[in-house]
Amino acid sequence: MKDLPFGFDVIEGSRLDRFDHHIERPLSTLKGLFADAQAYQRMLAEGDRMVYEVYEVRRPAKAGELLTGLSVVHPGRVGGEYFMTKGHYHLVRETAEIYYGVAGRGLLLMQEEGGGWAVEEFRPGRAVYVPPCWAHRSVNTGDEDLVTLFAYPGHAGHDYGAIEQCGFQKLVLRRDGEPQLVDNAAWARAMETR
Ligand code: F6R
Ligand code: ZN
Repeated sequence: MKDLPFGFDVIEGSRLDRFDHHIERPLSTLKGLFADAQAYQRMLAEGDRMVYEVYEVRRPAKAGELLTGLSVVHPGRVGGEYFMTKGHYHLVRETAEIYYGVAGRGLLLMQEEGGGWAVEEFRPGRAVYVPPCWAHRSVNTGDEDLVTLFAYPGHAGHDYGAIEQCGFQKLVLRRDGEPQLVDNAAWARAMETR
């Protein structure tokens, strides 16, 4: 029985006391993610900074299970664009997800394949619900780690392809010292050629 993850703690602000899998996403693995390709290359030439990490508590990938873990997006920007996750739809579209803000500030960008989009604020103590069929991406708009706890159905899977091809409708850029949502021209172009 002791092998079952009945409980876990967030320790040192941004790590789980027990986890089965640690995903690291340094800048070098995120080519094409940020809108300003030149700023990306310049930053990469200075060093391969860690953009985000995920600590997963493994459970069987089947309906009825919940997959949980901690997502940590570090602070930073490429050009004016805040550090963020790749973002994805779930492979099984009819699966939802819930996030809970543990530390830091940020946004959860969401969009539907039909063209709808939404944005929700992350802050400590706030939960954000991602309904079925909505792609989601975490964006760190603060100066410290954005730490969120997540839970989603075991059979959901991840589909990164659609987002890699078209991106999100909105970019989150720092303008006049504040995060601003800006239309993503690349997304509009990708939609026209579909
Ligand atoms: C799982 C989920 C999160 C993300 C994590 C990293 O369905 O939404 O655990 O996987 O925030 O983001 P991605 O997977 O987009 O690289
Ligand atoms: Zn997800």
